[in-house]
This record gives sequence, structure tokens and C-alpha cells, in this order.
Amino acid sequence: MNKPTDRSRVLACRRDVLCAGSAAALATFVTPAQAEDDDEERSKRPHPGDVLVFSTGDRQGQVAAPKDVEINDNPVIVWPADPKTKTPRDGSRFNQVLLVKVDAGSLPESAPDRSADGVFAYSAVCTHQQCTVVGWRDEKHTLYCPCHESEFDPVTGKNVFGPATRPLAQLPLKMEGGTMVVSHTFIGKLGAPVAT
Ligand code: FES
Repeated sequence: MNKPTDRSRVLACRRDVLCAGSAAALATFVTPAQAEDDDEERSKRPHPGDVLVFSTGDRQGQVAAPKDVEINDNPVIVWPADPKTKTPRDGSRFNQVLLVKVDAGSLPESAPDRSADGVFAYSAVCTHQQCTVVGWRDEKHTLYCPCHESEFDPVTGKNVFGPATRPLAQLPLKMEGGTMVVSHTFIGKLGAPVAT
């Protein structure tokens, strides 16, 4: 006897409303090849046009906007995500990004145009020993890594204090059709220098 195919199962289900659940399950069935594509998509580095989605909290997976980031405050941690499917590129920790906002009026004219309404994005992985950079030093206006107190300039990503010896990799942003999106791939090296 021939094995029933997915299509024949669905047709059979159409004759029987009790199979509605099975048909829905088939409609959302993900083949191993699709799952592999998804994994590949998740591990790709951020592309121009990617949106940024919250990585945790009540709004996890939702697209972040400049209004979601407070000026001169702790960074917001996000993942870049495919603009159509909103699939986060969370297959590599090095893709985790911090958003920090400065007063756009305070930016020097010579500053490269890499922000969206005052929001700058950097790899959240500290260049010292790869903790997540989650803090803000209000008195010095610097990003701050709680592990060993390295500090970074929020406009350039440069290391300005502590044991980190190189800047955070920057992910340039822009506004496009009212949405904050990635405008360029990472600029700079990701993570800590490899020990030799
Ligand atoms: S890991 Fe960030 S300062 Fe050491």
C-alpha cells in the first residue's frame, strides 16, 4: 500500500473537520532544510536594512525605535533582524548589539553620520574579556562594562578607560521610512583580541 503523502493527508483532513489541527500542523511543519536555512540566517552578520529587535523583556522580538532608548542612560540590548521575517540574527553572540543615545544636538559637526536620531549601535561584546557592555557612567558620559570597568565613548566606541585595549565595533544606523535600520556592516573588530 502506498504511503500517504503530506498532500493526501491534507486532502483527507479537508473531509474531516476533526483533522483541522493536523492540517494546521502540516502547514507550519519546518523541513530540516528550512531549519538549516533559518540557522544560517540567524548566524549571518548584520546587513544594511536589518531592523533591531529587543533581545529580552516584555518586548522581546519587537522592533526597537529611537524613542525606546533614553538619552545618556544604560544601553538597550538588541539583535539585528531580517527586515521581512524579523528573524533575529542571534546565532552568534558577536551579533548582539547595544543601543545608546546621545543628545543629537551635542554631536560635533565632524562626527561621521552613523546614528539614527542620536542612537548609536555597537557590538555589545566587550573588547577586554567579552562580557556584555550594559552600563552607563553618568558622570563621565561613557558606556561601561561591569566586569572590569572598561569604559567606551558613546559616539566613537573608543576605549577611554580600563583594561580594554581597542574600541567596540560600531554598527552604523540610519532612519529609513520612519524605521531605525542598519546602514553598514560592523566597522572594527569584534570581541577581545585573540591571545597569542
Ligand atoms: S570584560 Fe569588559 S572590562 Fe573586562
